[in-house]
Amino acid sequence: MNEQFSKKSEAWSARFSEPVSDLVKRYTASVSFDQRLASVDIQGSLAHAEMLAHQKIISAQDYADIQRGMAQIQAEIAEGKFTWLLDLEDVHLNIEKRLTELVGDAGKRLHTGRSRNDQVATDIRLYLRAAIDDISVLLRGLRMALVDLAEKNADTILPGFTHMQVAQPVTFGHHMLAYVEMFGRDAERMADCRKRVNRLPLGSAALAGTTFPIDRERVADSLGFDDVCHNSLDAVSDRDFAIEFCAASALIMTHISRLSEELVIWMSPRVGFIDIADRFCTGSSIMPQKKNPDVPELARGKTGRVNGHLVALLTLMKAQPLAYNKDNQEDKEPLFDTVDTVIDTLRIFADMAGGIAVKPQAMRQAALQGYATATDLADYLVKKGLPFRDAHEAVAHAVRACEQRGCDLAALSTEELRQFSELIGPDVHQVLTLEGSVAARHHVGGTAPEQVLLAIQRVRTLLA
Ligand code: ARG
Repeated sequence: MNEQFSKKSEAWSARFSEPVSDLVKRYTASVSFDQRLASVDIQGSLAHAEMLAHQKIISAQDYADIQRGMAQIQAEIAEGKFTWLLDLEDVHLNIEKRLTELVGDAGKRLHTGRSRNDQVATDIRLYLRAAIDDISVLLRGLRMALVDLAEKNADTILPGFTHMQVAQPVTFGHHMLAYVEMFGRDAERMADCRKRVNRLPLGSAALAGTTFPIDRERVADSLGFDDVCHNSLDAVSDRDFAIEFCAASALIMTHISRLSEELVIWMSPRVGFIDIADRFCTGSSIMPQKKNPDVPELARGKTGRVNGHLVALLTLMKAQPLAYNKDNQEDKEPLFDTVDTVIDTLRIFADMAGGIAVKPQAMRQAALQGYATATDLADYLVKKGLPFRDAHEAVAHAVRACEQRGCDLAALSTEELRQFSELIGPDVHQVLTLEGSVAARHHVGGTAPEQVLLAIQRVRTLLA
């Protein structure tokens, strides 16, 4: 190993007269977690070196040497043979040091016209761009799975709830499509965030730019960035794009947590609306009868950590003066964990949605309790000319009578119903059925099975 780089204090220069303590070394190093940036770091370095050669800042031979060295490093990392040294602090210095070992002076020239500050900002953006692309594909997969489930259950009726009280009948297809909408907006947010992620910091150097005749557009083009960052101080310091990503991720997990909560409730034997495939559940070590919906529960819990990462990054950025500060090294673990958690969760949920067994009989039984068609009766009276408030009152009396008798509205005869309003006729019973109730909500965004099928068509076209 090159002696000059062997001790961290000596990595910098003769400027330092004593080595850092082991504790400080461990405290300040990021190599244990930023290794995962290795391949984007190499990608960024190669684009930078190509530009340096093109601009005649380094020689063509230097560039060729750098390419050769990087190819070997890439292979060593892939084979698990690369030795990561804590003494070299982070992924950037570890790779640069190895490159210099392999190709000599060309390796030492790579850092011309750049700094780790613009280098790391570039790496994170490259990493995040790929993560966003993965997440977008997974969000699409989840929506497809939910749309399939919705289609199979376009006319399966269950009670819709407000305040966790039975409100009105809805179709299970419609219920699933509510989540399809949520995950659709999540995908839009990711796509929008990607625009701001996809700008190139490189060329900003430490903070003020560089004295070399660089060509930033060339590097941006070769790395697939839409644009360069237009202010060097801003480019090396702000992590707002990562915060945005975490905010969009927190919303994904929040939507996942809402779906999870419903799955847990629906799977409770008390409710029994669905069953989740065994491969997503676990048993109990003591209670043989148990089948627990562990995956949705855990996803609900993991929402907490992703929300936490968002707050961590906001707090990290808050009140940081321009330009780069070491605080920013702390952006990585929350960001990486957010990506891992969201990716695993979406992958599992798309698979799990396909394995949800719906129990229409239990849903129907539940919808028949709780006077789910009371609003339909009120609407019926309004259509016969009664002002809505009076209709509301008349139906409230009818519900009360049913409560006393322990029966549903539909169980009352026309004659009995007429006690609450003279306007009621024999046509009332069509209105009081669950099918009549959902079919009547036949407009864009409504729960009627036909509308559900139209909405499914619309989403399928969007996702095609
Ligand atoms: N490991 C550092 C980080 O993650 C790289 C940039 C360090 N720059 C510096 N001037 N110390 O942010």
